[in-house]
Amino acid sequence: MGERVLRLERLRIEGSRKLYGELTVHGAKNSTLPILAASLLCKSEAVLHNCPALSDVDTAVRILRTLGCRVRRERDVLAIDSSQLCDDEIPENLMREMRSSIVFLGAVVSRLGKARLSFPGGCELGPRPIDLHLTALRKMGLSIREDHGCLECTVPGRLKGCPISLSFPSVGATENVMLAAACAEGTTVLSNAAREPEICDLADFLNACGARISGAGGSVIVIEGVESLGGCEHWVIPDRIVAATYLAAAAITGGELLLQHLDCSHLPLVLPAFEESGCLLKSEGDQLWVKAPERLRPVKSVRTMPYPGFPTDAQAPVMAVTSLADGTSVFVENIFESRYKHVGELLRLGANIKVEGRVAVVEGVPGLSGAPVMAPDLRGGAALLLAGLAAEGTTLLTGVHHLDRGYEAIEERLSSVGAVIHREFLPDSAE
Ligand code: UD1
Repeated sequence: MGERVLRLERLRIEGSRKLYGELTVHGAKNSTLPILAASLLCKSEAVLHNCPALSDVDTAVRILRTLGCRVRRERDVLAIDSSQLCDDEIPENLMREMRSSIVFLGAVVSRLGKARLSFPGGCELGPRPIDLHLTALRKMGLSIREDHGCLECTVPGRLKGCPISLSFPSVGATENVMLAAACAEGTTVLSNAAREPEICDLADFLNACGARISGAGGSVIVIEGVESLGGCEHWVIPDRIVAATYLAAAAITGGELLLQHLDCSHLPLVLPAFEESGCLLKSEGDQLWVKAPERLRPVKSVRTMPYPGFPTDAQAPVMAVTSLADGTSVFVENIFESRYKHVGELLRLGANIKVEGRVAVVEGVPGLSGAPVMAPDLRGGAALLLAGLAAEGTTLLTGVHHLDRGYEAIEERLSSVGAVIHREFLPDSAE
């Protein structure tokens, strides 16, 4: 799917409809992508269940195929055979499509002893350097030459396990180190590691393939290198950000939803934020019932932090909800510099939000009204979709390709619980 084609789609949202019914949360994008990279290390077939149908997952599959893997897909199951891995170059167009493509680096060099790739792309959330990834891999013996935006990486023999301390618990750098260290010579002790549930999922996958990784979910991860990995069958964890977005859809429309197949333990600060906004929540097993209040209350303070803090990915969706609250909510974005691009678009719908540096102050308004808006990035796009669901009249949302990176069949899912959303395909000049 070329970006040009995707840009010419928009969602027509007829707002002011309460959502009622059941929604199933699909598998986590941010687990599926590193696990697909990890499948490069497997000498026999890896079978992954609960893989969402997302454009980022398609990109990862294209990277695997380019490198020589055979990948079969049947519904939400991906079977990856990396036994014939032959190429060490990830083409620039695929690197540019998503930032997570950088996690292929650790796996490719571990398997082939070399890799060629360019700097990654992804949502534009301010500077997203990869210095932590490169410093850690260099410490493991990787020689990296940066040349005209390209990285030429080689390692004589195997990578070497060693102590590594990250100056920030970067999710991507933690994953890259785990992938590089799983089959390295000796033991790697990774301190100040990211603690996100997706890190645990990656460790579970690798261990099921024969790796020796302990401590995932804590700040220190110990990876004892093994000679090689086999295959396994693995179920990807539910997507906690999709769960948060569905909760927000119930909250912002004054509706009531039963969410299926989610893990509430992955939403430690997100669920309290919805409770603070006045939503009733009841969980049982892998289900969560949410009922919105008559009028939403503000969420006094939302500070994004590495897990188990409030996730930066849920900041924009929750901000959309607070834009309709009876009072003032304050957001502090601590992970990324430019993660308020949705604010200007929310203002077009009638929200009252002021941004100063990392802080956004949301004065709730009694109602929003539909308007043409553009998704600036994946989660910012989700915030605008949510605001459109609640707004009076029609909202036309362009930049839909951002949403397709992280939400499977979003308009179909939301339509099944009462939203009125249509995807429109526009001629070139109409946008
Ligand atoms: C981040 C989020 C993750 C989210 C993803 C997509 C955190 C901690 N991570 O992961 O939950 O799913 O975005 O939105 O919330 N950094 C460096 N040098 C590096 C790597 C990172 O300076 O080599 C900085 C980044 O610029 C950023 C911060 O560290 O300010 C977080 O980066 P990281 O966790 O690596 O980001 P992602 O893996 O993209």
